[in-house]
Amino acid sequence: MHTTAERERVEDTDYEYLRVERRGSVAIITLYRPKALNALCDALTVELSHALDTTESDDAIGAVVLTGSEKAFAAGADIKEMQPKSFTDVYLEDFITSSWERASTTRKPIIAAVAGYALGGGAELAMGCDFIIAADTAKFGQPEITIGILPGAGGTQRLTRSVGKSKAMDMVLTGRMIDAEEAERIGLVARVVPAERLLDEAIEAGEKIAGFSRPSVLLAKEAVNSAFETPLREGLRFERRLFHAAFATDGQTEGMTAFLDKRKPQFNNR
Ligand code: CAA
Repeated sequence: MHTTAERERVEDTDYEYLRVERRGSVAIITLYRPKALNALCDALTVELSHALDTTESDDAIGAVVLTGSEKAFAAGADIKEMQPKSFTDVYLEDFITSSWERASTTRKPIIAAVAGYALGGGAELAMGCDFIIAADTAKFGQPEITIGILPGAGGTQRLTRSVGKSKAMDMVLTGRMIDAEEAERIGLVARVVPAERLLDEAIEAGEKIAGFSRPSVLLAKEAVNSAFETPLREGLRFERRLFHAAFATDGQTEGMTAFLDKRKPQFNNR
């Protein structure tokens, strides 16, 4: 059995393309492939899936921050790896399906902290997280069209739902990059902060979320996500049921009692 400190070290050294650390109840996963601007090669995405499986099953973790380097969150799928592939190759191996979808299927909240380039699959990975905090240096784009393909990891879907048809068409069809200011204006990112504040801001957001009652956090995330998958009437019904379900948790009793007692709630995550 490893102590927490040992486990952190093991996790940190186990990966070639990631760095994983913990601050309190927040896990910070840093994409680490500096030679290729964190291009998402197959091995990196497999490691990322594994790291997310680990944070999902670790009760001590209440939220995850996914980040990259100052220069790049991620510059997309690895073009060198993709270049020789044929249709039959990508179809038979179901390319990018198996290891690319983990960030968007986590139950625990996951925040993308983006500085520098978030392009192609990099932008798609960030959009698959629950929300994006961007450094003022961030640049987002779907440049796949410039290399003879199209976005394949949710870019035509999540981007369109997030910013609307016109902006999505502009970005997907021209490959134009947008800066952080434009990304915030169109609703792609939740906040823009000075680059030197990026990680602190994301960790603070993660700590804040991790400090709330976990069942209500997970229920809230599930409810927001259902807005993408259901018609309004069904989404409202689902939200109402989850809202009712929250009254079965200790967190509801404690949160409301603490409010009335004018004290801080002590959540037990039950
Ligand atoms: N794949 C593989 N290698 C990449 C890469 C990628 N997506 N992006 C950058 N790199 C590598 C470069 O080849 C270069 O390696 P070498 O030093 O060995 O030549 C290194 O990273 C540094 O890159 P640049 O020299 O190009 O750096 P720059 O500062 O001049 O330009 C950039 C930065 C504008 C981001 C440019 O690297 C670029 O345009 N990258 C490709 C972006 C792209 O097209 N992404 C979409 C990929 S397709 C996709 O993601 C499909 C999908 O939807 C799933």
